[in-house]
Amino acid sequence: MRKGIVVDVQAAAAAVSTSLRRAEQQSGFKAMRVFLGVTGAHIGSTNTHAVVAVRDPSNVISPDDVARVIDVARVIQLPADQEILHVIPHHYIVDGTEGIQDPVGMLGRRLEIEATIITGSTTPIHNLVRCIESVDVEADGIVLAPLAAGRAVLSSAERELGSLVIDLGGGTTDGAIFRDGRIVHSSVLPVGGYQINNDLAYGLRTSLAVAEEVKIRYGSTLDTARRGERIQIPAYGREEAQDLERYTVAEIVDARLAETFELLHADIARAGFDATYSAGVVLTGGGALITGVSELASEIFQAPSRVGAPDNLIGLADAIRSPSFAASVGLLEWGRDQLVPAGRLEASSSRSFDGLRAWFRNFLP
Ligand SMILES: Nc1ncnc2c1ncn2[C@@H]1O[C@H](COP(=O)(O)OP(=O)(O)OP(=O)(O)O)[C@@H](O)[C@H]1O
Ligand SMILES: [Mg+2]
Repeated sequence: MRKGIVVDVQAAAAAVSTSLRRAEQQSGFKAMRVFLGVTGAHIGSTNTHAVVAVRDPSNVISPDDVARVIDVARVIQLPADQEILHVIPHHYIVDGTEGIQDPVGMLGRRLEIEATIITGSTTPIHNLVRCIESVDVEADGIVLAPLAAGRAVLSSAERELGSLVIDLGGGTTDGAIFRDGRIVHSSVLPVGGYQINNDLAYGLRTSLAVAEEVKIRYGSTLDTARRGERIQIPAYGREEAQDLERYTVAEIVDARLAETFELLHADIARAGFDATYSAGVVLTGGGALITGVSELASEIFQAPSRVGAPDNLIGLADAIRSPSFAASVGLLEWGRDQLVPAGRLEASSSRSFDGLRAWFRNFLP
């Protein structure tokens, strides 16, 4: 993978196969279906508006009218290589009255919808699906990764008031703004932890593998770094270790992180979503483990900030209670909702749900 995109299908499929096998061995369950998180600079989001006439002669709005207005909203001008990942309704408008969450059963002649449409490029999405299918599991759903991450780390108050989730991954940094309970904007930057490693390898004259280790062990932002502490790291093409000030590592890490946050901030402002996240910034993904990252984000986004890990978990889930697993846990919750519609997990007594119910009980309350 590079910057969220599959660049070698065979190698990526082999990596998926290895981690799937390990997860199956550790859990004692076999995965049959997969919910796939996608990200990458090809992801776009746009707001849309659609309108239909209510069909029923007595003007009672039916689920069919709602399905039709969503279908009309999907008809937007898209380049040939783009496809729609999600249509996220904001609210409905019935005969000019705005802000309606569920219009079914209301009286009206004209039904409108305001929605966000999330799109992605067909080729990278299909390559991702090919990786999954080549290891004999079925991709049941394709979900925008930061949408899943936000689901796992935000409280319902944060989701309502307005929050910015920043998922600091290896190849990408994903920003997603949630408001009024749903995602309203997303931006993906093709810059992530890999770039920090690259900067460290270059700046400290060492290999990428050592740079990754140095980042995890000594990496921090400038605010949290102290002067004077010396560290020893292996140098490129030399036997003896090189001695350097730990502060130097912080300078390199801080510069790249600050630049990434500034780019994201500018992107969000350009899209008109500045100051829409009054509940603050929640950082997640592996990069959120860097010391001081939350203070730096707070400074640049001028908002309160915290690190978010999935915590709505029970049982043997200690290892995945880490920001690195936010998107995975969010996908798991997403999958549960798709496979077992709200309420049916508890209400159903059918045998086919027993296995699923038992399985989800391993992770989710
Ligand atoms: N303790 C740590 N301190 C600093 N960085 C870390 C730590 N643990 C992991 N990382 C970094 O986090 C990144 C991986 O994060 P994550 O697992 O969220 O990425 P990903 O989801 O695989 O990638 P992407 O989201 O770009 O597709 C790597 O760059 C890794 O170096
Ligand atoms: Mg990720």
